[in-house]
Amino acid sequence: MKVLVTGGTGFIGSHTCCVLLEEGHEVVVIDNFSNSSKEVAEKIKEISDRNITLYEGDVADKDLLRGIFANEKIDVVIHFAAYKAVGESVKLPLKYYRNNLGNTLSLLEVMDEYNCKRLVFSSSATVYGTPEALPIKESFPLSTTNPYGTTKLMIEQILKDLAKADPTWSIAILRYFNPIGAHPSGLIGENPNDIPNNLMPYIVKVANKELEILSIFGDDYDTKDGTGVRDYIHVMDLAKGHLKAIEKVMKETKIDCYNLGTGEGYSVLELVETFKKVNNIDVPYQIVSRRPGDIAACYADPSYALEELGFKAEKGIEEMCKDAYNFIIKNKE
Ligand code: UFG
Repeated sequence: MKVLVTGGTGFIGSHTCCVLLEEGHEVVVIDNFSNSSKEVAEKIKEISDRNITLYEGDVADKDLLRGIFANEKIDVVIHFAAYKAVGESVKLPLKYYRNNLGNTLSLLEVMDEYNCKRLVFSSSATVYGTPEALPIKESFPLSTTNPYGTTKLMIEQILKDLAKADPTWSIAILRYFNPIGAHPSGLIGENPNDIPNNLMPYIVKVANKELEILSIFGDDYDTKDGTGVRDYIHVMDLAKGHLKAIEKVMKETKIDCYNLGTGEGYSVLELVETFKKVNNIDVPYQIVSRRPGDIAACYADPSYALEELGFKAEKGIEEMCKDAYNFIIKNKE
């Protein structure tokens, strides 16, 4: 199949491209490199020993999109391209609504023009807000606590309205839990330029002595050790979930949502201790107050994705911690 991947050089996008290429699919990427670089495209080619077709530009640019759909015979689209920093979205909501909603609307309109109606959308467990119970099922009520999350929820609604109006659309909405880790080659991974917002990139930079100390946001939650609990999923497993999702949208014409998580919750302290152990390195930390907007615990019920997509995450947190650090070591060299 020929797959258009928007945001294909980003963290999840790049790993997904590798998995698609490995499965023999043709990959066309559109990316404006707003949070990545052209070098990642080279690394994807190196890992897979295959070529990708790369279009540099913005997904909001309908003429560019029209050119892509006219030139390439795209079978299915995986839409990753979006801004994703929660804190920034609170400060700059319009930037988030303009980009995340604007580029999605352009994409959907052009897909419609070219009668390409198979889509996998990159959503997030953030759409469950403060979950009513654990583990989280797809049927739980939806709400958000920040503009980034609201863009994901709004796009889910747009897609549901679209599929209702035109049932020939086939759409898989993937709600990711917390993707970490990196490609086992160490060639691609997550390496934010700024001070990281997320836990694993922060741990890695402390281990690598680029940052002094990890701040753990609260140890007074109602969890096993008082620190926040999340469902960390290896980015390679997550990438494989996209493969299953494109198979699904090619086979069945419907819209549906799937949790992509492991179903296991680990605390911040458990993740830090595992990272220290498997990499044999120190990660100094201090306990500070809670981060506003954080929830105590969040983990998936992954059974629907298993039933419907045949997807099951396989890699454990030790491998996630090893691969995350390996990427940094390799890139230092
Ligand atoms: N944490 C720290 N110190 C840090 C960073 C994080 O203690 O420096 C803690 C958080 O308080 C939380 C856990 O580590 O308990 C995980 O935090 P992350 O920022 O890594 O991830 P979140 O679960 O807050 O958010 C992530 C993505 C969002 C997405 C959400 C979906 O960043 O984009 O998962 O549930 F919406």
